[in-house]
Amino acid sequence: MESIQSIKQRFGIIGNTPSLNRAIEKAIQVAPTDISVLVTGESGVGKESIPKIIHQLSHRKHNKYIAVNCGAIPEGTIDSELFGHEKGAFTGATQTREGYFEVADGGTIFLDEVGELPLTTQVRLLRVLENGEFLKVGSSKVQKTNVRIVAATNVNMFEAIDKEKFREDLYYRLSTVDIHLPPLRERREDIHLLFRKFASDFALKYKMPTVKLTDPAVQMLTKHRWGGNIRQLRNIAEQLSVLEQDRTISASTLQNYLPSANTNLPAVIKTSKSESDFSSEREILYKVLFDMKSDLNDLKKLTMELMKNGNTKDVEKNNESLIQKIYGNDDDNDTSFKEPIENNDVISIPEHTPSDIEIVNIQDKYHFAEEIEEEETLSLHDKELELIKKSLERHNGKRKLAAAELGISERTLYRKIKQYDL
Ligand SMILES: Nc1ncnc2c1ncn2[C@@H]1O[C@H](COP(=O)(O)OP(=O)(O)OP(=O)(O)O)[C@@H](O)[C@H]1O
Ligand SMILES: [Mg+2]
Repeated sequence: MESIQSIKQRFGIIGNTPSLNRAIEKAIQVAPTDISVLVTGESGVGKESIPKIIHQLSHRKHNKYIAVNCGAIPEGTIDSELFGHEKGAFTGATQTREGYFEVADGGTIFLDEVGELPLTTQVRLLRVLENGEFLKVGSSKVQKTNVRIVAATNVNMFEAIDKEKFREDLYYRLSTVDIHLPPLRERREDIHLLFRKFASDFALKYKMPTVKLTDPAVQMLTKHRWGGNIRQLRNIAEQLSVLEQDRTISASTLQNYLPSANTNLPAVIKTSKSESDFSSEREILYKVLFDMKSDLNDLKKLTMELMKNGNTKDVEKNNESLIQKIYGNDDDNDTSFKEPIENNDVISIPEHTPSDIEIVNIQDKYHFAEEIEEEETLSLHDKELELIKKSLERHNGKRKLAAAELGISERTLYRKIKQYDL
């Protein structure tokens, strides 16, 4: 069996804490089996290496390894991504498509952020875990696949089970073996080691001398709470490597790079009460605006849904009146709203719509709605961005907490982070 040290080298894993070694050892032990593994641990602790180790040390290593970020795929398409779909299964399904479970037959699938899977997908996953069976979306033909599943999560799955967001039976099926990666603050002896490795990597990358820490700086680094774990440590090593002229980093320089709310120092009292009151009021206002935008989007979605499903004159009439209700009357026949929109896919008018004139009408209304939405978006965009940034900062980048505070799902937050490139 390959030694733990050579595995670490092969997969670029730094550290020597017993709890880290135990996690890697467990991965080595379970690799040759087909047992499902659940990797747990806070964000940024290095969960992504474990499924790679498991795959590479298994008899599946010559077959596919597919990593799926369950939190990043929209709910509407995730079943089709994972299990494929039949031609015509839904609007836009012009071809039969293989899903990851078909493509990875004989290999390994890594389901990252598995706690984000919608409940309907969880049912499909349970079936595939239990007997290797699955159905493409829109098909009634049972297919077989032989896939080893490694899942990961940085959220408390028991909480998710309690809130009925995650199936208990699936949880136990996924976590036959649980591999837990410790947070960095429980691996203090690895912190400086990791920093030195990152500093030397970045020196190479940016062709500059390696930054070094003074002893007090090392102490400060080691005592820090590291809410974002190794990812955060790596970011700070990169910033120091790029920005600091003096390559010897003192504690006071380092202090500037560590988020203050995140240190182990006693809480700092806010400078001015009125200032903090103002900022909290502003945040409430942002939240209201944010919620309003969500509502607006929901309404838009509902409208689109009704339009999609409707295939009789009556329903179309209802759609029109619904739009009027939501967006007001546009009896003034403003021609600027009359040009038909280009992307007809968005509405997908049924083919047997009674007459062309009605199609144009519906599109006009839709276009009108889009114009209003655009204006709203322009004014809300910055607010939303700022609110998300603030919330993420407050929670040291922990999406789960930020999402809870913002009152949106982690999935939505994830998409917004991608969208705004945060
Ligand atoms: N022991 C380690 N040695 C070197 N680099 C590491 C180690 N652990 C993690 N890293 C690095 O830290 C970063 C974050 O790791 P990773 O993406 O695996 O986190 P994660 O646990 O999947 O977090 P999340 O739950 O947020 O997805 C990566 O760049 C990874 O290479
Ligand atoms: Mg990850």
